[in-house]
Amino acid sequence: MCMLKIMKKSTLSKQNITTAITGASSGIGEAAAYKLAKNKNNLLLISRRKKNLEAVKNKCLKLGAKKVFIFECDVQKFSDEKNQKKINIFLKKENIEIEKLINSAGLAKGTELLQKSKSSDWDQMIDTNLKGLLFVTQLFLPQIIKNKGHIINLGSVAGRWVYEGGAVYCATKFAVRAISEGLRIDLRGTGVRVTNIEPGMVNTEFSRVRFGDQKKADAVYAEMMPLSANDIAENIFWCLQQPVHVNIQELVIYPTDQASIGHVARGEKSILKK
Ligand SMILES: NC(=O)c1ccc[n+]([C@@H]2O[C@H](COP(=O)([O-])OP(=O)(O)OC[C@H]3O[C@@H](n4cnc5c(N)ncnc54)[C@H](OP(=O)(O)O)[C@@H]3O)[C@@H](O)[C@H]2O)c1
Repeated sequence: MCMLKIMKKSTLSKQNITTAITGASSGIGEAAAYKLAKNKNNLLLISRRKKNLEAVKNKCLKLGAKKVFIFECDVQKFSDEKNQKKINIFLKKENIEIEKLINSAGLAKGTELLQKSKSSDWDQMIDTNLKGLLFVTQLFLPQIIKNKGHIINLGSVAGRWVYEGGAVYCATKFAVRAISEGLRIDLRGTGVRVTNIEPGMVNTEFSRVRFGDQKKADAVYAEMMPLSANDIAENIFWCLQQPVHVNIQELVIYPTDQASIGHVARGEKSILKK
């Protein structure tokens, strides 16, 4: 009887050390989930589309992940006390302890000039890319600190260089860079590493979400070779694999066909023709 009690207690106290990924239902977050699954990580997949998360979870389990949890949620709502309570109860119930966090949830809306752009689009970009990332990070930080973990933020080349029609999206990604730098300063001495990954053009659902139109999205990547979500996942994994005394602070990753935000080699000039 006593032995049974001890066994029960030790099983209960065994934590599932887990990597949380926001935006895991598509694109870079989804590809990162598969890469980590192949390397036997426990995963907590977060985004709004439950059906997609279920499909990603099943694939992760087939690829070798030990345990995969899903939490359907809008990151904008992580500040809400009710939601915070809900996720804390969920973590406790499943014995999940977050060690690493990949903040991939994010989006751009529209490419209109600022004077013509919609304030509802500004709200969505700021509340998701900036405030959502902050809410999720702060909620998981106590466990990440306890585990001397790692936070990977998905910034962008738009967080370094501004382009026409991109003022607000760029502002959110400049903010991701500032938050990454600030976190590194505030977390010094804790052993937690913070990396800001800054990709150029990656062919995911990103442009479809931005334009709300598949044809316009396809035109963005026409006659050139963009990065794939997988390319970024490989680099995320490489950052996570560094020894504990090495922190890759920032990675700017462009496709070879993209020299800068406004300079893309297409057609005969593309690497596709080389
Ligand atoms: N693609 C690019 O060219 C590129 C370049 C540089 C940086 N980035 C950045 O990389 C990150 C990932 O983008 P991606 O290219 O993988 O695009 P994607 O395929 O559209 O994926 C975006 C992900 O974010 C999730 N998401 C959006 N709003 C959310 C919210 N309010 N709450 C929870 N999840 C939310 C989406 O899931 P649900 O819809 O299921 O919620 C989806 O899983 C973004 O931060 C983006 O800004 C992309």
